[in-house]
Amino acid sequence: MAMIASKCPDIRVTVVDLNEQRIADWNSDNLPVYEPGLQSIVEHTRGKNLFFSTNIDHHIQEADIIFISVNTPTKDYGSGAGQAADLRFVESCARRIAEAGGGDKIVVEKSTVPVRTAQMVNEILRGAENGFNYQVISNPEFLAEGTAMADLENPDRVLIGGETTEAGNAAVAKVVSVYAQWVNKERILTTNLWSSELSKLTANAFLAQRISSINAISALCEETEADVDEVARAIGMDSRIGPKFLKSSIGFGGSCFQKDILNLTYLCRHFGLPEVAGYWDQVISMNEYQKERFVQRMLDAMHNTISGKQIAILGFAFKKDTNDARESPAISICKRLLEEKGSLKVYDPQVTKDSILSSLGITDESSLERLSFCHSAEDACAGTHAIAILTEWDEFKEIDYQKVLTTMLRPAHIFDGRNLLDLEKLKEIGYRAFGIGKV
Ligand code: UDX
Repeated sequence: MAMIASKCPDIRVTVVDLNEQRIADWNSDNLPVYEPGLQSIVEHTRGKNLFFSTNIDHHIQEADIIFISVNTPTKDYGSGAGQAADLRFVESCARRIAEAGGGDKIVVEKSTVPVRTAQMVNEILRGAENGFNYQVISNPEFLAEGTAMADLENPDRVLIGGETTEAGNAAVAKVVSVYAQWVNKERILTTNLWSSELSKLTANAFLAQRISSINAISALCEETEADVDEVARAIGMDSRIGPKFLKSSIGFGGSCFQKDILNLTYLCRHFGLPEVAGYWDQVISMNEYQKERFVQRMLDAMHNTISGKQIAILGFAFKKDTNDARESPAISICKRLLEEKGSLKVYDPQVTKDSILSSLGITDESSLERLSFCHSAEDACAGTHAIAILTEWDEFKEIDYQKVLTTMLRPAHIFDGRNLLDLEKLKEIGYRAFGIGKV
């Protein structure tokens, strides 16, 4: 919304939320989200044509276009628990819009939703019978965290789906005209509603599948002395495959990939397509396997026990340049290391201690006693038997590992879960160094 405000000075954008604290944060100098470039764009537009408010009904009534941008987490209760998307927030937005009235509106699904959610939103809006016309549009968001500003400013494509009726086409054209103020028209795709909804789930499933595919190969590399980065480079130069999203790692995290694949497989089963669901299930299974494999490799290298040993955890975010730890692979890896009775010294430049504790969700005293938090990577490494790099923060490349080694216990291990460092150099200076998909 900040990007729309910045690129379209003639459009007044108001972001509304029930959560007063969140709105207060958006109106303050401490934005609730860490995203490079966001602060400056908010500062330039806030109070001019970008506003944050809790006065929900008033702004619904005034708006011509309403973007529904609420959470659609995986359902954790009742039918479809653990798989289906929980649409209660989308549904309550639709009800609130219908109740507030105020005139004809275009209602845009920005949240990632299962195919045919627009039908539900439509039924609620039209069922209100309040005399106003509503057009539901699907406009999924493809930005990635950490690069959100660049992705929004220069998107690969903007996807806008609508009903294939005269009113539907007019609504699509209106939303197109917003993006066309800064995005080249050739990059704005219009489709029917259902294609647009399904494309978002499919894009995320394909991206996650590439990571699971290269991670599957990484296991084979470790057995055969092939190097996964070299394999990725070799296959990525095939223009049909392409070089992106082939970085082998401890597995994908983030709020989207797993959730969207679960959502996709739930839909497949719902529509009687168990073989299709089974195919996509494997992408998640491989991701789980990769995390466990990393833990096993640590155990194997450290004489099958880490009980009583100190381990530095460098990075907890699901990727660099974000303070987001949702579904971070670091969560299950740290939990497993605690289960194995290791002691963890955690450092992440952006994820807070509270966020790490709530992501881990551990309550037993014994585990909590073995968990501590540090203010720098060097502090985290001092006195440990091993370093595990779980997020590819640039600053971890700049560490003076020779100096760090003098503060560690011997033999000193380093497990690079992001293939960030030069393993040969580390070995030369005295570490036992391990990467992913390399010997
Ligand atoms: C993703 C999609 O990229 C984006 O289009 C969609 O709108 C939201 O979901 P995001 O989750 O922010 O974006 O980050 P992304 O860069 O896709 O990374 C997801 C996870 O995959 C991270 O944990 C990352 O470390 C991992 N990853 C990514 C790899 O392990 N290897 C890669 O080559 C790329």
